[in-house]
Order: sequence, then C-alpha cells, then structure tokens
Amino acid sequence: MNRIYFDNAATTALDKDVLDAMMPYMTTQFGNPSSIYSYGRETKLAIEKARKSVAALLHAHPSEIFFTSGGTESNNTAILSAIRDLGCKHIISSPIEHHAVLHTVEHYTHAGLVTSSTVKLKADGHVDLEDLEQQLANAKERCLVSLMHANNEIGNLLPIKAVGELCEKYHAIFHSDCVQTVGHYPIDLSRLHVHFISGAGHKFHGPKGVGILYINQDVKIKPFIFGGGQERNMRAGTENLYGIVGFAKALENAMANYDTDSVGILSVKKYMIEQLRQHVPDVAFNGDQEGSCLYTVLNVSFPKTEMSEMLLFNLDMNGICVSGGSACSSGANQGSHVIQALNNDPDRVAVRFSFCKHNTKEEVDAVIAKVKELV
Ligand SMILES: Cc1ncc(COP(=O)(O)O)c(C=O)c1O
Repeated sequence: MNRIYFDNAATTALDKDVLDAMMPYMTTQFGNPSSIYSYGRETKLAIEKARKSVAALLHAHPSEIFFTSGGTESNNTAILSAIRDLGCKHIISSPIEHHAVLHTVEHYTHAGLVTSSTVKLKADGHVDLEDLEQQLANAKERCLVSLMHANNEIGNLLPIKAVGELCEKYHAIFHSDCVQTVGHYPIDLSRLHVHFISGAGHKFHGPKGVGILYINQDVKIKPFIFGGGQERNMRAGTENLYGIVGFAKALENAMANYDTDSVGILSVKKYMIEQLRQHVPDVAFNGDQEGSCLYTVLNVSFPKTEMSEMLLFNLDMNGICVSGGSACSSGANQGSHVIQALNNDPDRVAVRFSFCKHNTKEEVDAVIAKVKELV
C-alpha cells in the first residue's frame, strides 16, 4: 500500500543530502571533538562550522547557539535557567504550549520555586496581548514569558516581535518555543527581543535527537549539564557530531528553498481547505487557519459521529497518517489540551493534517476521497 504521510508537524523524513553530509562523521571522521589530535580537530571544526552556519541563518552570533538533544531539552533548559540564573519568580505561558513547556512550568510551580499563570486566548486561539501586558504590568517580581512561535496543533503564529517588545518594556525574560518555525520561517533574531528560542532538527528534514537552544548573549546563565567542557562548559557530554552536522545541513536546505517550499506547501494546504469545504458537510477549522497561521499545519474539526470518532484509525487502515486530538476527555483518550483550551466542544472531532515539501494535491485528493467515505 502506498502510504500518505500528512503528519509532518510530528516529524519529517530525513533529506538524502542531509544523510550524505552526516555519513562521513559516522564512518571515517569519527574522532571525539575534544581530542587534540587530527581526528578530534576535524570533528571539532565540523561542529563549529555547523554552529556558524546555524547562527548566520538565524541572524545570531555563533556563541549564542547551543546544540542540545532537541526541543524538549531546549525548552526545559530555558525555563530552568530563567528561574535559577536570571531571577524569574513568575512564569506566564499559555494553555496551548507544548507539554515540554507546560509540564516544566508545572514542575517548578509545584516545587514552590515560582508562581505561574496563563494568558487569555482569543476565540481563534491567538494570545490576548492586552491580557499579557496587564499581567506583566501587575507582576511584583521578575517574569519569564514562555510563548510558542507557532502552535504545533493548530499552527497559529505568535506576533513574536510584539511580545518581545512587551517583555522588554517590563524587563521580563522571553522564551519562545520555535520548534515548529525553525526551518519553516525566516527567523531574524537580530530584530527580536527574545532571550531564548528552541528548535529541533527532525521537524525540517534533519535528524532526530538534535536541537538548538539560542541564548541571547546579554543573558548569562550557568551550566545546565555538568561534566566535561563541551558546548562552552554549558552542556557537558560528547557532542552528537553527525546530528549537529545534519541539523546545520537541513537548516541550510530549508532556508535556501524557503521561498519555493513555503509557497508549494501553502498551496497544498489551501487546496485541502477548499476540497474539505466542497465535499464534507459541516466541516470547520480550529485556530486561525486562513489568518496568521503556519503554512504547514491544518487543524480540521469534523462533526462527531460514530464514523468520525474512528477517523484516525480508519485513515491509518487506509495508509493515511495524520494525528488527532479531539476534545474528548473520557477514558484513555484525554484528547488534545490545545483543542480543549480552544473550544472543548464534545460534539466535534479534531484532526491535524500537517504538510511538507513532498506532499501533493493528488495526495490531498486521495485523502479527501477517504474522508468523504468515513465522515
Ligand atoms: C512545539 C513543540 N515543542 C517541542 C517539541 C519537542 O521537541 P523534541 O521532540 O525534539 O524534543 C515539539 C515536538 O513535537 C513541538 O512540536
């Protein structure tokens, strides 16, 4: 069976030339980057070249880029550092952050190290900036604001520049989980008032298990993994050499092809919206799908029926890979906390379709034909 993969916000296929760039570092150039002889010097150079390239693509300084194991570690580290090293005593986030942020904030709140609150959301899922400003203005202690750039379930984009300016006005630390936008959006860190951003290689055709934490050079933090002196003493442990090389190559590809890829992917998404409206009665969309939304993500709301409740399962049986998140809160299926925070309509079923440069309108036609049958 020919499978259709519409779950690219979960992960993406590794690009062939990314694998090619990684291969030498898995085979012949295997030296430990901390070794002082030639094998080590070669691999150390590869890491620093990757750091320079990533920094240039994000308009940052190489010393601001730390390689990590992925989005989860980067989010955890930003929050830990803001509390431990930067004096943040209150965290403002949103109810629709990724669990890598939500559970970290919960952990430090329950441990009594910080207090926390969430911003109000508008009906379309966007952060209410007036509420954010009010919370910042009323805060008695230094705040960390942790708000994601693009939501991984509904795609809504945060006005990251405006949020950064608010944080600057109220001397708050700003962390943005950019896992869905690094590699899918032209991020210019030189123009944003952001202290930390997180990214993950596997979201843009790079390898899994490697990510970045950008730490603005104006903030000084202490080591977050103790051991050897890797990552400028901040994150000890022998580097994920081939992962780092792959991350940089994937980001280079992504940004070199951004103009064409983003237009192509957006046209697939728009076509899917149009086809759904045409063929599926009472279809709706979660989030701000046709407004300020990432072109890779489409969150569809179907009326709940016996058939639509089994939609993910039945699509999977037909070789169509998508992910769900209905607002159902019963039984083992807790549903999606994002959809729950948005509308919590028990009579609807939410399905996330997320696209990449490999997807086509023909695939959309095949998915629509199946959805028509199943809903
Ligand atoms: C918005 C967001 N943040 C964080 C993560 C976690 O990233 P990783 O799987 O690389 O740890 C993901 C991945 O699902 C994500 O979509």
